[in-house]
This record gives sequence, C-alpha cells and structure tokens, in this order.
Amino acid sequence: MEQIRIRGGTPLCGEAAIQGSKNAALPMMAAALLHKGTSVLLGCPRIADVFCMEKILQSLGAATWWEGNNLHLDCQSADGFQVPAAYAKEMRSSVILLGALLGRQGKGRIGYPGGCIIGKRPIDLHLQTLQALGAKIFETDEAIVASCPKIKGCHIYFPSVSVGATEQGMLAAVLGEGTTCLHNCAKEPEIQWLQKFLNQMGASVTGAGTENISIHGVKALKDTRFSVPPDRIVAGTYLCAAAITRGRITLKNCPAKELTAFLLAYQKMGGQYVEKNGTLLADASRIAFPIVELTTAVYPGFPTDLQSPLMAVLATIPGQSHLIENIFEDRYKTVREFLRMGADIQVRGRDAWINGRKCLHGANVTAKELRGGAALVLAGLAAHGETIISGRQYIDRGYENICRDILRLGGNISE
Ligand code: EPZ
Repeated sequence: MEQIRIRGGTPLCGEAAIQGSKNAALPMMAAALLHKGTSVLLGCPRIADVFCMEKILQSLGAATWWEGNNLHLDCQSADGFQVPAAYAKEMRSSVILLGALLGRQGKGRIGYPGGCIIGKRPIDLHLQTLQALGAKIFETDEAIVASCPKIKGCHIYFPSVSVGATEQGMLAAVLGEGTTCLHNCAKEPEIQWLQKFLNQMGASVTGAGTENISIHGVKALKDTRFSVPPDRIVAGTYLCAAAITRGRITLKNCPAKELTAFLLAYQKMGGQYVEKNGTLLADASRIAFPIVELTTAVYPGFPTDLQSPLMAVLATIPGQSHLIENIFEDRYKTVREFLRMGADIQVRGRDAWINGRKCLHGANVTAKELRGGAALVLAGLAAHGETIISGRQYIDRGYENICRDILRLGGNISE
C-alpha cells in the first residue's frame, strides 16, 4: 500500500474531475469550531490532512460524520481546548485552531504544528497576531498555551505575507469585540473562500483577496452548508502530468481562474488549452520550450506548491530552465530523487537550473513531502521503464486518489 508503481512513456489522454481543495477545507474546518452548531462541507476531499483535522475536532468534543464527500461537523459540544500534540504535529494547519479556540472560549493549548519539511516554518506571525488581539501566550517544550477572555479588535500589520497567519487573524477576530483590520494580508483564493464561508455562517468579513481584510465581530454564527472549491494545486499537478507526457486531457471542475500564473508558464512551454464553464481541455502535445526564469511568489504569482511538479516537466524539455523558490527555504528536496531518474539539475540556495533532456529512466525513488511526491509521479509517467515510489503517505496528505485520477487520465499506474 505504501508504494506506487508507474510505467512511463505514454502520452496521457483521458478525463478526470478535480477534488475539493485541501487548503480551503482545512481553515473551514477550523472555522466550524467557532459555531456551537453544525457546519456541512460539501465536496470535501477525503485526504489524510482532513482526516487528521477531523480527529482533532472530535478530540475537542465535536461530532463528525461523512455522507459521501460531504463532511458534517457538529461543534455544539466541542468545548475542549487542548489539541493533542500527537495530532498537532501531523500537519501545519493545526496551528490555526488556536485562533478558533480563543474565539470560541478564550483559551487554547496546542502542540507544535508539523507539516511538510520544506523549511523551518516558524509560527511567529501567528503568535504575534494573537497577542495583538489581546491573547496571553506562553510556550512550554511541548505546547503553546494561549488565553484571552475577550478578543479586542485592532489593526494588525503583517511584516511579511503569510497565508496561515492571515487565516489565524480572521478566525480569532470573528467573535471578538469591535473591528479588526489586517494589513499586508495573503490574497490566496483559499483566504477568499474562507471569507465566503465565514460570512455564510453569519460573520462580517470583507476585503479577502486584497491586502486589507476587516473583520467586524459578531455575537454568534449559524448552521451552514458550503461547497468546498476545487483544488487549484491538484489541477495544476494534473496539467503538469499532461505536459510531461505531451498528452491531451480534460479536467472537469477545474478552477482555471485561480491558475493564471501557472497557465502562463504552461503556455510558455508550448502548452495549449481552452476552458469553458469549469471544464478545461489541455493539449500539451507541443510542449517543447524551456522556461528561462521563473520565480515562485505569493498569490497571484506562481504558486510554490507547483514548483516541484513544474520542475519535473522542465527536466524533460531540452534546454536550460531556471527556477527560483522564493517562499520556502528548503523546497528542493525532491531534486535528489529526480537525479536518480537521470535528470540534470543543479541547485544553489533558492536557485535551481534544469538542463532538460529527452528522456528520464525509471528508478526506485522516495517521496519526502507532499508536492515533491506528486512530482515524482509525474516524472514516472515520462520515464522509460518502471518507477517505484515509496513514501506515498506524503502524497495522500493532499491527493484524494492520485492513482485513480492518473488511471482515468490514461496513465499506467498501480498501487
Ligand atoms: C500555506 O502554508 C499552504 N498550506 C501551503 O501549502 C502553501 O505552500 C503556503 O501557504 C504558501 O502558499 C495550507 O494552506 C494548509 P505561509 P503556510 O504562512 O500558511 C513564513 C501544500 O503543499 N512564515 O504563507 O504555512 C514561512 O516560513 C502546502 O499544500 C513565517 O516566517 O504558508 C514561509 O517562508 C505546503 N512565520 C512564508 O512565511 C510565520 O508565522 C509563507 O508561509 C508563518 C509563515
């Protein structure tokens, strides 16, 4: 079960539907804690990180159940305030539960968050945000303890852009007193979806998608049912699968409008696509051009989560491409595995130079984190011979069923 086997060399040609977004669903699950009632997330991805967040909510007293891909969260009795360290260290998103716990009951205790090893991943911006809102925070060796009888609205200026810290501030302020204004916010679609979800629950949040978000505190929230948006990173990953095999695929439920920077890069390589009413038809048969230089950036720039998948594609395009990873300081861990497959890539700090070559060869490789693991699947689809990927548990954190989807797209893959 822990391995994925791929026989490469076949251009993809098939159709798949895009799952719900991991990075939209997780903050929505934390937001559900703010309401002493039931929230239903429709089309929620059945992935490891969501199951982990579900276990955390259950440990706090919530009742949760699934009906197909619809996740029901009844937080009526979720009055626990301690998040077990074992769960917290399973993923990064656990840290935003602190804001929701403070918002709901003025206290919270949480183990240090885990998550993919793509850099130090500090949480200083999260803690500074909560302190600015009036929380007292102290840290023990195993946990962060926060208390704040009442969150008081204020202005918060983020020194640097952070998706998680922006979500932290939004969640903590929803039930607070007065108005909180967050400045220098992240503009990712997931922030905009969180605002839509919170407002449907009865919150009063404006500005998501811009640098400035205002949250006017309300007394209580209400039951709601909300559709989780499709996952833009999964969609980008599958477009890279088409690109690396020079195939032609159809993606249903594809959030093309949230992939502008990626689609520009895809076209620069020679990829073509048409998009109509959420269905994207991609023709990657003419992919042949390296990318002279591309830097990952905060939204709407090129997403860091698609850097490794793009690198896999560039490894198969003759000529030199140059990537600069500007968000995380250690997001080239998968390069060493690409080299085992015959890729020619040099890394120095945040720079990676890829000398693409016509073909890679199959090898035994190991996934070390989520998006790098997905990139190894892509490389296996292009490689001659068989590639065996260990460490698939990392891939399952964010992809509901990558084998099912790649099979539907015409790939030769098995588990
Ligand atoms: C979110 O992580 C996503 N995760 C990541 O996706 C994504 O790569 C990242 O945003 C950037 O888009 C979820 O939404 C669950 P950040 P997050 O805070 O919030 C530094 C995936 O593969 N920073 O925007 O942790 C940080 O080290 C994952 O789905 C601080 O210095 O990212 C990084 O260099 C991987 N102090 C930069 O900011 C802090 O307190 C951006 O991180 C917080 C962050």
